[in-house]
Amino acid sequence: MAEKPIGVGLIGCGNIGLLHAASLSHIAGDGVLIRPVIAADLNAENREEVASNWKFERLTADPNEVIAHPEVDAVYICTPTFTHRDLIFSVLSAGKHLYSEKPLAPAFETVKEICRAVLSAPIIAQVGFQMRHNAMHAKVKNFAQTGEIGKPIGYLYRDDECWPTTEFSPFASAWRSQRKFSGGGPLIEHSIHGIDLLSWMFGPPVRVAAATRSVFGYDIEDVAALTIEHESGVVGNLITIYGGVEGREESRFETFFEKATIEITWGVMVESEENSFRITRSGEAPENVAFSRILEERLAALGIGLPPFFWNELASRDFFKCIRTGRKASPGFKDGLIAHATVEAAYRSAREKRMVELKELISDFT
Ligand SMILES: NC(=O)c1ccc[n+]([C@@H]2O[C@H](COP(=O)([O-])OP(=O)(O)OC[C@H]3O[C@@H](n4cnc5c(N)ncnc54)[C@H](O)[C@@H]3O)[C@@H](O)[C@H]2O)c1
Repeated sequence: MAEKPIGVGLIGCGNIGLLHAASLSHIAGDGVLIRPVIAADLNAENREEVASNWKFERLTADPNEVIAHPEVDAVYICTPTFTHRDLIFSVLSAGKHLYSEKPLAPAFETVKEICRAVLSAPIIAQVGFQMRHNAMHAKVKNFAQTGEIGKPIGYLYRDDECWPTTEFSPFASAWRSQRKFSGGGPLIEHSIHGIDLLSWMFGPPVRVAAATRSVFGYDIEDVAALTIEHESGVVGNLITIYGGVEGREESRFETFFEKATIEITWGVMVESEENSFRITRSGEAPENVAFSRILEERLAALGIGLPPFFWNELASRDFFKCIRTGRKASPGFKDGLIAHATVEAAYRSAREKRMVELKELISDFT
């Protein structure tokens, strides 16, 4: 019997909801068996716009209609961070599969409540840390795993982007500059992606020391500088910034292995002018590896012919594979918990001016 398409419901048709819709449409066109059942947004204009990216059969203002729809097997939650908790609990009650955007919630206690519930539910549940699917990151992770250039020793990681609030960017959303809605500034909103990558590559962090600063006058930090120690012994620094420079959104990651260093730079989309990958092996000249080659190799390894335009395409392909096969999603909610605990440890460290152990934050977690 022919396989039935997985029915998709999407809640929240803003920046990332639109990108997910376009990505889902792109992979559906490449043979991934999914169906655009229904999308919801409180804002009618955004609802209409999402349907031009992927032709949903129904549009609604009511997110609960998406969750309850009998043809919906999997729900994407793409609304502002402070709304995730209630929607996630409704998805769990309905027994649907879940793809939730990060951060999971503004407050760490709420994140724990969410993770406890999701981890005991018999569903496939994935967190929107799509940077794990960036081909350059997968290549660094591969070096960390194989030992070909020795063990990883330490790293420097930097994210910077223009303040994502309407004052600086007409496409940004006002909720981001209020702690009660977003949970904080660039660390929780943006660099939680980086923190997930670092845990994925080097194992979970055990302790964090951090300093934060607020310059632009919002009630969230606009710079955070962290020193992170991983269980594996790897140590590194992460700095993240919301600056006032429009059009600038770049991330850079330098990893120091026993026998080589790797420096990578990337932008938001797959094809970004910032993309670069340089490896310097002991005793050899630095080698710049073309991004096109890295992407080609990654797609070949995954058996995918169509290059993505946004990394969440690869994340979604994997999500649907997990639904089909019953495999656990990666990144899942345990990964979400570790990333959030690291962020929380950093905020606590900055407030209390001391190094914070992750076990202080998750020792009660079962
Ligand atoms: N994975 C990523 O790289 C990435 C990128 C951007 C944003 N995000 C995350 O995705 C989430 C959304 O961010 P965004 O930039 O798309 O925000 P946004 O403000 O652009 O869009 C949010 C949309 O949700 C709608 N909405 C709000 N409450 C709703 C509700 N209860 N029901 C239905 N619709 C509702 C709004 O009308 C708006 O259209 C945030 O948690 C954000 O941190 C993730």
